[in-house]
Amino acid sequence: MKILVTGAAGQIGSELVPALREMHGRENVVALYHHNVPADNGLHEVGDAGDVELIKRIIKEHDISTVYHLVGVLSAKGEKDPDLAYKANMGTLKNILDIARERKDAGRPIRIFWPSSIAAFGPTTPRDMTPQRTVLEPATMYGITKVAGELMVNYYFKRYGIDIRSLRYPGIISWKTPPGGGTTDYAVEIFYGALKEKKYTSFLREGTYLPMMYMDDAIRATMELMEAKPERISVRTSYNITAVSFEPAEMALEIKKHIPEFEISFNPDFRQKIADSWPKSIDDSQAREDWGWKQKFGLSEIVGDMLRNLGKQFEA
Ligand code: SER
Repeated sequence: MKILVTGAAGQIGSELVPALREMHGRENVVALYHHNVPADNGLHEVGDAGDVELIKRIIKEHDISTVYHLVGVLSAKGEKDPDLAYKANMGTLKNILDIARERKDAGRPIRIFWPSSIAAFGPTTPRDMTPQRTVLEPATMYGITKVAGELMVNYYFKRYGIDIRSLRYPGIISWKTPPGGGTTDYAVEIFYGALKEKKYTSFLREGTYLPMMYMDDAIRATMELMEAKPERISVRTSYNITAVSFEPAEMALEIKKHIPEFEISFNPDFRQKIADSWPKSIDDSQAREDWGWKQKFGLSEIVGDMLRNLGKQFEA
């Protein structure tokens, strides 16, 4: 049983690849990098995840039975280049789904993980404890590709019987890769500011609550969903999932407990409008019921772990 991870150098990929290698063996996980191949790379391929022939070859050659298709352009970057967001997010997903169809017909079925996001929601969605089934009218190209993708994966499951599973990730906080084009990324950048300059200017306003999760929880959730027995998966669009909701000033207060001189200021930009169209908190009871989802990291654990690990990285 071999696994392919696309977007392997991205925020999630760079942590999921080592976690999968630990669980399934180094020789069983193929990482697909676009250009920046990390030093500790292991079994990998280099190329464009949009190149159908390349993906077909990798899947065939390595006899891949599970794909984590993580390639994606996030919300803020996507608003700067909507065409790129469409191509990277939608185009590559359609290719993978069609390859999975071919492989199924050939008797070599593939299980797929594909990430959706809180960006699938929009200004008309109820913002507090946003339910699993609700209005999906996103205001960003990123969000549009997530809604279309959710409908697409559900369709391929129902129509072609392909086992595709998905999570609507909240903002993910992590220290291994630098922040990369998301609206929730203030909650990552803030640690760079705190450790380097003891101050940070947030591009989101005080009081902007968003659902968030620490990377360790996100990786565990992803792996638990993929390990779950198929009969436990009742949602084939994408599962609501969350750990904690907070706003920039609350995170700053928590950081001040470790770095008393730390100061936050606010200078909202175009990302404020995106954040204002997203949920403040999420109802993820379906994921909890179906396959036992439960977070381990709250705000104080996230802040403590981020400062410890990023601090070490800056010292090195
Ligand atoms: N973290 C993502 C973003 O801000 C949400 O999926 O774009």
